[in-house]
Amino acid sequence: MKFILAPMADFTDAPFRKMCFEGGADLSYCEMVSAAALAHGNSPTRHLMEVMPGEGPVACQIFGAREEDVAKAAREIDLIKDRFTELNLNAGCPMQRIMRAGAGAKLIEDPEKVYRLLKVMAENTSLPITLKTRLGPRPGEDRIFELADAAEKAGAKGLAVHARYTSQMHGGEVHYGKLAEVVANTRLPVIGNGSVKTLKDVANMAAAGVQGVMIGRASLADPLIFARLKNPDEETSSPWGDISPAKIHLKYLLEFREILIRNFPYDRIPSVDGFASVKMHVHLFRYFNSRPGAAALRARLNSVRTLAEIENIIK
Ligand SMILES: Cc1cc2nc3c(=O)[nH]c(=O)nc-3n(C[C@H](O)[C@H](O)[C@H](O)COP(=O)(O)O)c2cc1C
Repeated sequence: MKFILAPMADFTDAPFRKMCFEGGADLSYCEMVSAAALAHGNSPTRHLMEVMPGEGPVACQIFGAREEDVAKAAREIDLIKDRFTELNLNAGCPMQRIMRAGAGAKLIEDPEKVYRLLKVMAENTSLPITLKTRLGPRPGEDRIFELADAAEKAGAKGLAVHARYTSQMHGGEVHYGKLAEVVANTRLPVIGNGSVKTLKDVANMAAAGVQGVMIGRASLADPLIFARLKNPDEETSSPWGDISPAKIHLKYLLEFREILIRNFPYDRIPSVDGFASVKMHVHLFRYFNSRPGAAALRARLNSVRTLAEIENIIK
């Protein structure tokens, strides 16, 4: 069984992926990349596709609705294909902004379009193409079987299924039975996704027959979850010794900023203070969420603007 870090916009950047790799993940996904933005030469979009040393295998994910954009994005990604193991199409994001543009979960309603998009991706990169999607728009309206067929016909090499419907957003029942039907009805390897947090969840996924589990929210502030679920009989020791994950995270973030400065000399990369506070902000909330005094810390986090303040809070 493979353990995979799910793509999460604003979270799964290179520093966090590196932590998850060190925490036992077999593969990590980038944040979703806009095919339209790439196609139109938006440079900061490329920052999302930067990797850092020691990260382990990384999958790139794009979202888009227009074949021309997706083709162009795939060509551009092909130029840096050595850093990725696969190119994935997002057909599952339920955000209004994305769906209104015809992308993400909107694609679930149009498997024929998914076929065309995957096909142009396959025609424009030699990376293996995969699809990440959901069961259908709402319970009672399964589209996953058509989507799996479309993926197979387009030459995709794998399918990640968030075993929920678009109408469920990110909550409610995970439909393991449906997932098992998907596995039984496609030749593609299937990765199961949806609220995997415990060994019981992993066992449910395994019973559905998936080849891997994709973990999203449960990995936030807990990158060692991968090792824990993978090797439940072993004591999971931290790869960072006595140093707290939050501290390591900050260290990796600053190293990553140096990489961006080196690789994008013409882009405006925020100052150390700006970069650390913006990028660390979302994670710090999670690191401290379950701690005593979390409410007071959260209030403090809202006003954090400098590296020194972050270091102080972590200390
Ligand atoms: C903050 C956040 C950002 C997400 N961004 C993406 C994304 O960029 N691409 C994608 O395919 N799914 C995205 N998702 C969905 C996750 O990949 C995953 O399918 C979902 O969270 C269910 O898995 P989980 O219950 O383990 O979190 C996002 C989810 C969250 C919570």
